[in-house]
Amino acid sequence: MAGVMGWPVMHSRSPKIHNYWFARYGLAGTYVPLAIKADGLRAALRALAPLGFSGCNLTIPHKEAAFEIVDRVDPLARRIGAINCVVVAPDGTLDGVNNDGFGYIQSILEAYPDWRADAGAIVVIGAGGGARAVLVSLADKGAREIRLVNRTPERAQALAREFGAPVKALAWKDRHAALAGAAMLVNATSQGMAGQSVLDLKLDKLPATALVSDIIYIPRETPLIAAARRRGNRTVNGLGMLLNQARPAFHAWFGVMPEVTPELRAMIEATI
Ligand SMILES: NC(=O)c1ccc[n+]([C@@H]2O[C@H](COP(=O)([O-])OP(=O)(O)OC[C@H]3O[C@@H](n4cnc5c(N)ncnc54)[C@H](OP(=O)(O)O)[C@@H]3O)[C@@H](O)[C@H]2O)c1
Repeated sequence: MAGVMGWPVMHSRSPKIHNYWFARYGLAGTYVPLAIKADGLRAALRALAPLGFSGCNLTIPHKEAAFEIVDRVDPLARRIGAINCVVVAPDGTLDGVNNDGFGYIQSILEAYPDWRADAGAIVVIGAGGGARAVLVSLADKGAREIRLVNRTPERAQALAREFGAPVKALAWKDRHAALAGAAMLVNATSQGMAGQSVLDLKLDKLPATALVSDIIYIPRETPLIAAARRRGNRTVNGLGMLLNQARPAFHAWFGVMPEVTPELRAMIEATI
């Protein structure tokens, strides 16, 4: 057994992803949505072992709170500052890990296998939880220059201080100019998501050779991705990040490193 704890949680695609893999690899198991409110998180996590769960994923609003509850947090998750996956150890204690950064890098490599983080300057917009996973994973992949822009400048400045080189914070008003000469642009804000306003960013200065990635996957094509595609940039949406972060979780719980098959991708795309 495994599941995803969140509030709300019924929109989560994770049960579809993991239950697909149970069937594909012939494993007897089930992955369930667990609607857990913030004040029930501690008891819910401590119930995983007695209920026979191998672990769980965490989604909004639990990624930071769970960090304080589990027994051990791995160094990468510690740097990201949040956990998105809990693994129940044989003795019933809980390990916290974060697979969002892995999922992000895999999603780019899946689309463009020759992509390199050190190919040139990378502009990252946003300084929330998603941005933290993106920044840590890009830096670990060898990014040399990350221009970080966030509406609330103090958050970008704090991240630049925390992560050090290669992350440099730029002012929000300079976001359009920051695209000059960039090899890659990443939207890690919630702008462009279904129900949210469009990210206010002029792409004029972005080289046509730049890769544009948006970690949002609802809609599949955000206005940013659509605009980038129209002007000839290579693009990657956020679905690959979601699909790929699930792989190491399934592996940690059930011993099989599963694949993101075209069939799985199409099945999840059909729900968006
Ligand atoms: N594909 C995946 O697997 C995956 C994983 C994680 C997240 N995501 C997606 O990534 C997005 C961000 O998630 P998160 O967890 O990082 O959220 P978060 O921690 O709440 O951060 C939100 C970010 O969006 C910015 N923002 C919000 N409203 C804005 C506005 N009107 N103008 C400019 N910037 C604005 C915030 O800037 P301020 O600091 O100024 O508020 C902040 O940088 C969501 O759409 C989420 O679904 C996808």
